[in-house]
Amino acid sequence: MLASGGGSNLQALLDAIGRGQLEAEIVGVFSDKPAAPALLRVPEALRWSVDARLEQDRAHFDSMLAQAVTRVRPDWIVCAGYMRILGDAFVEQFRGQLVNIHPSLLPRHRGLHTHARALAAGDMLHGASVHFVIAELDAGSVIAQVEIPIKPDDSAQRLAARLLPREHQLMTAAVQLLVEGRLSEHDGKAHLDGHPLFMPMRLDLHGTLTAALQKTRA
Ligand code: GAR
Repeated sequence: MLASGGGSNLQALLDAIGRGQLEAEIVGVFSDKPAAPALLRVPEALRWSVDARLEQDRAHFDSMLAQAVTRVRPDWIVCAGYMRILGDAFVEQFRGQLVNIHPSLLPRHRGLHTHARALAAGDMLHGASVHFVIAELDAGSVIAQVEIPIKPDDSAQRLAARLLPREHQLMTAAVQLLVEGRLSEHDGKAHLDGHPLFMPMRLDLHGTLTAALQKTRA
C-alpha cells in the first residue's frame, strides 16, 4: 500500500481483514512522508518511508521505492492517498498491478482539490473511483466507482467527509476482487473475469459492486 496521509483507507482494509470480510494481507506500507499517520497503522516491520522532499532526483526516489516494494513481493500495489506523482519507469515496472483510489467520478476532476472543483462546476453528483494506474495522471481505466449526491449546502470539507466512508467500502470491495484474481487490465481496459467492463462497476448502498460487462462475440 502506498500512502502519504492519514491512512483511513488502509485502516478500512485492515478492519475488513480483521472481521474476516476481506481475504487479503497487507505486506507493506510505503510512504514519501516519514510522518504519515498511515505508517503507524501497521507494525514497524511493514513500514518503509523516505522523505521525498529531501530527494532531489525523482527517478532515484522512485527506484528506491520500487526496490522496497519488490522486496515484499506484493500481488497488488494500492495507492490510497499517495500524493506524489509516480514516474513513468515505476508505473511501467508495475503496470497492471498498480491501482489508485481517486476522490472524483473520473474522468471528471483529475488531479487535486476534487471536492472544491466538483462544487465549483455545479456538479449534482460526486464520488470516488478505483482505477488502474498509467503514466498519465488519474487517466487509467476505471474499475469501480461510488456516487454520492451533492447537497445545496455542501462545502468541500463536508463533501469530503461524506464521501470518505463510501470510499472505504469501495476500496474494500475492489481489493476483494483484486485478491480473488478477478480483475485485470488489457489493451488499456479494465476486465472482470476476463471480460472488458462496459462501464465502471458501481458500489450499491450495501457496499456490493455490480458490473456491466461487454460480452465478446464468439
Ligand atoms: C482519499 O480521499 C483518497 O481518495 C485521496 O486521498 C484521501 C486519502 O485518505 N486520494 C487522492 O487525492 C489521490 N490523488 P486516507 O489517507 O485517509 O486513506
